[in-house]
Amino acid sequence: MIIAIDGPAGSGKSTIAKLLAKKLNTEYIDSGAIYRTITLFGIQTFAEGCEGNESRIFELLKDNPETIKISYEDHTQIMWLNNENVSQKIRDPKVTVQVKYIADHQNCRELVNQSIRKTAEKYSVVIDGRDIGTIVFPKTPYKFYLDAKPVIRAERRAKEYSIPLDSPGFEQLVKSINTRDKEDKERKIAPLRKASDALLIDTSGLDIEGVLKEILPHIQPLKS
Ligand code: DC
Repeated sequence: MIIAIDGPAGSGKSTIAKLLAKKLNTEYIDSGAIYRTITLFGIQTFAEGCEGNESRIFELLKDNPETIKISYEDHTQIMWLNNENVSQKIRDPKVTVQVKYIADHQNCRELVNQSIRKTAEKYSVVIDGRDIGTIVFPKTPYKFYLDAKPVIRAERRAKEYSIPLDSPGFEQLVKSINTRDKEDKERKIAPLRKASDALLIDTSGLDIEGVLKEILPHIQPLKS
């Protein structure tokens, strides 16, 4: 079983995907974390960062497939870069700013997609991302597209990072959400969009349980 959960940053997809993976006893694949790890590798390898070095980054990773490893423990995905657990490091704002160069590169995207497809051959999976229902697994019957108003998504991030809503930091978060939406939706390859057969869930007024209630009935009847 492959469950695809797509949507913009802060729409709640990773929280839901993790929970769903636990409930259904499947693995959880965070595709964004794979893009982030490739980006961190680019940052660590090239003083000038990922921009302009995308092809070289791809070649290096293709020739040294052991550089990035992924392990799955207790429905959690752990990212390894040169045998270091970088699951936290890849959340650094420097990575968030540069990940677009990797996400815009066809060969890098193929590398990520191959890795995801290989894991899905072995396990039942819940995968969150931007193009899982449209490009990576267009044939899966389990597709969900989560969305929420940008300000609400920014508020969720603010809560996560303990940023007061009346601070300049919060304004910065709203800007960053809008920039990332633009990058994701206007990407030439595999842009963020809802698959025509995905169920759209507006999570703006819903808590986690509320979102789960929307999703579960669409999975359970098909499972048996
Ligand atoms: O989910 P995230 O914010 O950690 O993802 C980081 C970036 O990776 C996101 O801004 C765009 C890219 N990405 C992508 O292009 N396709 C995916 N399936 C997942 C993420």
